[in-house]
Amino acid sequence: MAIIKNHTSEIMKGKICMITGANSGIGKATALGLAKMGATIIMVCRNKDRGEKALEDIKKEVENGTVDLMIADLSTQKAIHQLVKEFKERYQFLHVLINNAGVNLSRCVLTEDGIETTFAVNYLAQYLLSNLLLDVLQASSPARIVNVASSVLAKNIDFENLNGEKHYRQLNAYGQSKLAVILFTYELSRRIEGTVVTVNCLHPGYVKTNMIKNFRKFVKYFYPLIGLFMKKPKKGAKTSIYLASSSEVEGVSGKYFKKRKEVESMKAVYDEEIAKRLWDVSIALTNLNFNKTS
Ligand SMILES: NC(=O)c1ccc[n+]([C@@H]2O[C@H](COP(=O)([O-])OP(=O)(O)OC[C@H]3O[C@@H](n4cnc5c(N)ncnc54)[C@H](OP(=O)(O)O)[C@@H]3O)[C@@H](O)[C@H]2O)c1
Repeated sequence: MAIIKNHTSEIMKGKICMITGANSGIGKATALGLAKMGATIIMVCRNKDRGEKALEDIKKEVENGTVDLMIADLSTQKAIHQLVKEFKERYQFLHVLINNAGVNLSRCVLTEDGIETTFAVNYLAQYLLSNLLLDVLQASSPARIVNVASSVLAKNIDFENLNGEKHYRQLNAYGQSKLAVILFTYELSRRIEGTVVTVNCLHPGYVKTNMIKNFRKFVKYFYPLIGLFMKKPKKGAKTSIYLASSSEVEGVSGKYFKKRKEVESMKAVYDEEIAKRLWDVSIALTNLNFNKTS
């Protein structure tokens, strides 16, 4: 009798994958998809109850899966440092880091570090976490960083208004944070070129998730209708899973993907001067000391 093997099910066996914002939407679907491929999953969630519930859901679907939960509110830099410390105490390797957590806030709220929250969670947390984990990623040859961006992008980075000092508009703050994610992805790929770590970013498509919870009332009112035309999280997770696992993108770095295909983006993201300035501003905002990470 012929035995039919599902080759895709085990392709991530032995790989350790950290996914931020893994308790809902695209992050949860990404965690589930990679768990099904045999990866060891570290779910990073800010709320213990929501994290435990999502972990149970994944374990129900992937009975022999190895799924771990780590709690961190990525809006605070102290929590990111603590997360990295605990991770390094528990794990020796990290093969995939998926920076997925994100918010879209209607109001300007400063974090305890004094940074506008959308910018802090969507971009600065990716910057800090990636840099603090770079040593362990470098030791896990080969390793990948996958940054969830968007196709909703601001025209430029307004360095004089990063914290909403001049004004705060929800869509612009979100678009600026996502533009920063793409600039950072390209800049990091230039800085780590020739190493065993690759870094790419993606737009997941328009996906029906909890992202709506902080939208204004009138958007929420129409959401049931708009939601009919949006993807389900499982479909929205496909490009993240592809970039984390596919041999087709082995060695590919510094690219932006949609629907599992590399695509061009707007002109501003290729401006290396802006990318360098953003990098320097990010060092100042995080007090990152490259001689002594974590
Ligand atoms: N949905 C779309 O159409 C779309 C389009 C383009 C890009 N994206 C991006 O896709 C990513 C995933 O979003 P989603 O659509 O799946 O929305 P979602 O269901 O709201 O998921 C967002 C995740 O991020 C977590 N998160 C938010 N703030 C956090 C913080 N301070 N610390 C730690 N975790 C935090 C959330 O945790 P809680 O559950 O505790 O809030 C949740 O797990 C985001 O980066 C988003 O910008 C989404």
